[in-house]
Amino acid sequence: MMVKGKDGGGLGHLLMVIGLMGLVGLLVVAGVDGGYPVVDGAAKLGLSGNPYRHRERAVRRMESLKASLAAGTAPSPSPPISSRSRVYHATDYGADPTGNTDSSDAISKAISDAFRDPSDRVLMAGITDLGGAEIHLDGGSYLISSPITLPATRGGNLKIHSGSLRASDDFPTDRYLIELWASHSSGSESTKGDNDSTDYNYEYITLGGLMLDSNFRGGGIGIVNSLRTTIDNCYIVHFTSDGILVQSGHETYIRNSFIGQHITAGGDPDEKNFSGTGINLMGNDNAVTDVVIFSAAIGILVSGQANTLTGVHCYNKATGWGGTGIYLKSPELTQTRIINCYLDYTSIVSEDPVQLHVSGSFFLGDANVVLKSVKGVINGVDVVGNIFSGNGNGVDIVQLDESNGKFSDIDQVIVQHNVVRGMTLRSTTAKASMDGNRSVWTVDFSRVLLFPDRIQHVQYTLLANSAFPNHALRNTSGNQVVIETDVAVAASVHVAVDQCVASIG
Ligand SMILES: *[C@@H]1O[C@H](CO)[C@@H](O)[C@H](O)[C@H]1NC(C)=O
Ligand SMILES: *[C@@H]1O[C@H](CO)[C@@H](O)[C@H](O)[C@H]1NC(C)=O
Ligand SMILES: *[C@@H]1O[C@H](CO)[C@@H](O)[C@H](O)[C@H]1NC(C)=O
Ligand SMILES: *[C@@H]1O[C@H](CO)[C@@H](O)[C@H](O)[C@H]1NC(C)=O
Repeated sequence: MMVKGKDGGGLGHLLMVIGLMGLVGLLVVAGVDGGYPVVDGAAKLGLSGNPYRHRERAVRRMESLKASLAAGTAPSPSPPISSRSRVYHATDYGADPTGNTDSSDAISKAISDAFRDPSDRVLMAGITDLGGAEIHLDGGSYLISSPITLPATRGGNLKIHSGSLRASDDFPTDRYLIELWASHSSGSESTKGDNDSTDYNYEYITLGGLMLDSNFRGGGIGIVNSLRTTIDNCYIVHFTSDGILVQSGHETYIRNSFIGQHITAGGDPDEKNFSGTGINLMGNDNAVTDVVIFSAAIGILVSGQANTLTGVHCYNKATGWGGTGIYLKSPELTQTRIINCYLDYTSIVSEDPVQLHVSGSFFLGDANVVLKSVKGVINGVDVVGNIFSGNGNGVDIVQLDESNGKFSDIDQVIVQHNVVRGMTLRSTTAKASMDGNRSVWTVDFSRVLLFPDRIQHVQYTLLANSAFPNHALRNTSGNQVVIETDVAVAASVHVAVDQCVASIG
């Protein structure tokens, strides 16, 4: 049975005792042995661990009870079932908060209990509502030799929080410290297919206030086919695969967290050797918000759609060393928004981007946006309103990688309103002016326009003080705008070009 259930039962009995003995008796009980009912419960459970903690908790409860009695607000006695706490302390199951001995089994038992007889309510069909149960790690640091998994029976509305987990030296290298992954749960008879997206494994699981140290053996958190998962205020280090993997399911919200393979603050002498991926999003509709990735070969790898990255700071592995800040590997259907991020010596790479928005972001140290052709498709890309700051090496703020072939299917690409220092401005729109006394006016936009030979729209004005020449636009090939007058004339021309226009059919 549940330790906490025993607590509650003890309290119920205690209240009856109070009725018989009165306040004076209560004070005696509290002073003499506040821990009695719980130690009794622990003994029945055969727990070896830590009666002192039980005692402290019981004393605390007695004190709040005394306070409420004094205030005349004592709770009325209630049946044990309704006063059961649903906070499961790992240490109550024998987990070792000093990290000296393996706590995998103890934490698993706490989780199994949390999944036991909760309520008959459900969240999504087939997912039991665990009512807000908590697995409390009590600020301990636990050694883990096998992944912390949840029962295959599927559940939700559960929180695991407030402590540290560290992989042991024999932790399996292909696993994650915490897995929301029914098919990996041990002892499960039936598991739902990973790609059966209508049958979710878990819903509304919160992982918060956790430090996860993968000890260079595998990953931090693996979430497969789950719904509405929150990872909040976690510090995930020493992974070799992914800090966090999200596969299928949707609405995993990762926020206010710090992720790095190595604990470093930049300029690390081993930066060239960083490997692994900070966050691997292989699903849809997830959000990464206010997260720092301070070491990994790839900061965030996205291969699903409709994900949002906001307030992400990547200084994982400099692009100059072969790293990538944000890698969008969802060609031809990208549907990703990158807003208010900080790409710190690490770039954004997107393969055949279709519907990509990058705005309000800061790119430092020659970090840029690389649009990489795979099948030559680029459509609906918006890189606007960003700040780029480089080191004077002539790096383009937005660069086309056409090493696999040219972009041939181009539509609705808007790169403009970016401010640039120490890098080369690239844009899909530009303006220029030219003075002279001539009949052919060639204005060259090739140094600024993003696409090599693509001007879709030109507007020009010829400003002549002393003549009325005939004039015409002759050519826009190679991003060179050619305007001709019928006679030589002293004038200036002002030209605006655009590589993206809305088609009106
Ligand atoms: C996933 O989908 C594929 C193709 O529909 C199917 O062949 C495969 O069996 C499915 N896998 C699982 C685990 O359900
Ligand atoms: C980085 O990797 C290289 C090549 O594997 C190795 O020679 C070097 O010792 C590594 N650096 C460190 C500090 O581990
Ligand atoms: C423009 O050039 C022509 C000869 O090429 C010259 O006659 C004329 O004076 C020039 N006009 C001005 C305003 O310099
Ligand atoms: C435009 O200029 C290019 C390059 O000089 C040339 O090959 C092409 O024939 C010109 N087109 C027209 C319509 O004059």
